[in-house]
Amino acid sequence: MDQLVDELGKAQSTVSEARLASVFDTAADGIVVIDENCTVLAFNKASETLFGYSAAELIGNNVSKIMPADFAVAHDGYVQHYLDTGVKKIIGIGREVRGRHKDGTEFPVELSVGDASTSEGRQFIGILRDLRPRKSVEDRLAQAQAQLVHMTRISAMDEMGAAIAHELNQPLTAILLYLQSVSRKAARTEALDEMTLSVIEKAVKEAERAGDIIQRMRQLVEKKEPEREQIDIAEFAHACIGLVEMGTNERNSLFACVIEPDLPTLGVDPVQIRQVLVNLLRNAREAVSGMKIRRVTLSARHNGDFIEFRVSDSGPGVPPEVVPELFKAFSGQKQKGLGLGLAISRSIAQNHGGDLYLDTSGEERGATFVLKLPVETTAKTGARS
Ligand SMILES: Nc1ncnc2c1ncn2[C@@H]1O[C@H](COP(=O)(O)OP(=O)(O)OP(=O)(O)O)[C@@H](O)[C@H]1O
Ligand SMILES: [Mg+2]
Repeated sequence: MDQLVDELGKAQSTVSEARLASVFDTAADGIVVIDENCTVLAFNKASETLFGYSAAELIGNNVSKIMPADFAVAHDGYVQHYLDTGVKKIIGIGREVRGRHKDGTEFPVELSVGDASTSEGRQFIGILRDLRPRKSVEDRLAQAQAQLVHMTRISAMDEMGAAIAHELNQPLTAILLYLQSVSRKAARTEALDEMTLSVIEKAVKEAERAGDIIQRMRQLVEKKEPEREQIDIAEFAHACIGLVEMGTNERNSLFACVIEPDLPTLGVDPVQIRQVLVNLLRNAREAVSGMKIRRVTLSARHNGDFIEFRVSDSGPGVPPEVVPELFKAFSGQKQKGLGLGLAISRSIAQNHGGDLYLDTSGEERGATFVLKLPVETTAKTGARS
């Protein structure tokens, strides 16, 4: 009879051990069991995945192997302190700590620890949860929030920019008129010496430049609704080149124009889109000046629901450090330019439901800017019927 009870007891304990083993290895969290000396006694499957060590590699070793160096040094002391004083700092409380993968990477884990007195002495059971997924969500959230703050600031800037532009316009015009009348009078009466006259002239130039900046700032922030008209793309492209060539006396044109045949008409604000293309063509002409091969090509083609205008040049290309700033206002590198052209152009393109960007996919030298504008469905059906 006694033997039977004994057998039964053994069978039961094997069953519960098997059950425990199964729970141990199917747990989603890492489970690590250590003894009083911090030697690893058990290391489950989830821990293996988490830390990159196999159970065999860790069992019998100090648990500090899965901790960053600074924490590892202090860990034995923490355990001893608890054993000596019974003061719980982690046990039953849980806290965020850092773990260390076999490959050396460190990552945040939530650690909860329980302790148990067994026939083989005190043991500690640590349950470890990888906090990286939660952290990455938190990071993304923080990023989105930062972006939102940035956007709000930009729109406040927009409003302020528009207000400043409006307020400054009048006094600036007055300054210009005063200066002009002084310089006209001085020129007539010869009351002022050359030096003073040239200073006044410079002041007029600067005031004009400030006026120009304000004018274009207003364009940038006003976001006027486009007044759409149906335009013939080929005709329009040639006219833009004509505008840029005007006033130059180059014998051979820099510009080539390649237009895909049978393009539909395009419903855009011709004044605004002309401004975009002219700015791109001017930028391209400035980029190729001083180059051995000076070539600028304006092309247009149909691509899905869009018409794509491309302006490519044989210039030096846009330096990589300039690329992120390219479409920001006042970002220009030129002495003469205001650095507003591309910023205004992009906002015009986007106002049309399109976009303007630098094509960085090409291998060839030089720069290629792409202006994408949606083909209005009404225009297409109108053209077909
Ligand atoms: N085709 C190009 N090749 C190389 N760099 C370019 C090209 N187009 C633009 N850039 C760079 O981008 C900057 C911004 O161009 P953007 O047209 O916005 O201003 P800008 O031409 O300097 O002044 P403006 O306001 O008179 O147009 C330029 O100063 C230049 O450094
Ligand atoms: Mg420009």
